[in-house]
Amino acid sequence: MNIELDFTGKVAVITGAGSGMGLLASQKFAESGASVAMLDINENAINEEAEKLKAEGYSVLPIKCDVREFDEIKAAVDLAKKTFGRIDYTISFAGGYGGRIRGDVNDLTKVRPDTIQWSLDVNLRAPIYMAMSAFEYLKENGGVVIHLGSITGHDGNAPAYSPAKYGLVAFTKGVAIQGAPYGIRSVCVSPGPVLTREAMANMKTLLGYAAEPIELVRVIMFLCSDNARSITGCEYLVDGGRNVMLNK
Ligand SMILES: NC(=O)c1ccc[n+]([C@@H]2O[C@H](COP(=O)([O-])OP(=O)(O)OC[C@H]3O[C@@H](n4cnc5c(N)ncnc54)[C@H](O)[C@@H]3O)[C@@H](O)[C@H]2O)c1
Repeated sequence: MNIELDFTGKVAVITGAGSGMGLLASQKFAESGASVAMLDINENAINEEAEKLKAEGYSVLPIKCDVREFDEIKAAVDLAKKTFGRIDYTISFAGGYGGRIRGDVNDLTKVRPDTIQWSLDVNLRAPIYMAMSAFEYLKENGGVVIHLGSITGHDGNAPAYSPAKYGLVAFTKGVAIQGAPYGIRSVCVSPGPVLTREAMANMKTLLGYAAEPIELVRVIMFLCSDNARSITGCEYLVDGGRNVMLNK
């Protein structure tokens, strides 16, 4: 499948732009004509990747940002607006399962409180901070707010990650309600297993395979385009049908 979308003149603010789907989305939006503010806590990664894109003539701006901090998100969004003149899309990829990333367990009696805190902060609080920070700018021309949920938000298998991702579905509705009068749409895109890591191939899906990262990026690009002008306040599951075989 090859969808050609033209985002010339548009500006995307993307968190988690240092690796995985956030990096791929940054590259694809830039290649499709958008200017891209690439936010990540991993400064080396975004600087290195942004240099490569700039060398190819694309318009990107790496901004070091810890999305757990409201002031850092606000400053990054303000800088993106000052640099590029407008903001059309915010896409919050930064996140992940705290147990894996923090080297912790899933057991309610043993999981560390700081892992719970991290999971809620990065996966739920940060996208809320992003929408709060960008809303006034999005109101100027309309736009799209994309959240990254997860099928794990539906199966409940991770004590903090699941409620954070499920919470994003509710928040997406809130953004859609408050944004509609200004032409702002919001969609939560919830992947099943995606091969940003080899281990994700072990998670079962109805179709029998994990998605390639580009599949998620294509869906997000479609949702940001005018092809999706009537889509807002909802969740898109891109999970290979895992939702009909939960907890198997
Ligand atoms: N990969 C999957 O199978 C899968 C499945 C379901 C949902 N998701 C969700 O999709 C999103 C992207 O997943 P991925 O696998 O591409 O991620 P990834 O692990 O490859 O990248 C995440 C990025 O977020 C950045 N980050 C972490 N903490 C941060 C912070 N405090 N501030 C700023 N940046 C921070 C990391 O440095 C990294 O570059 C995540 O929200 C994840 O929960 C992924």
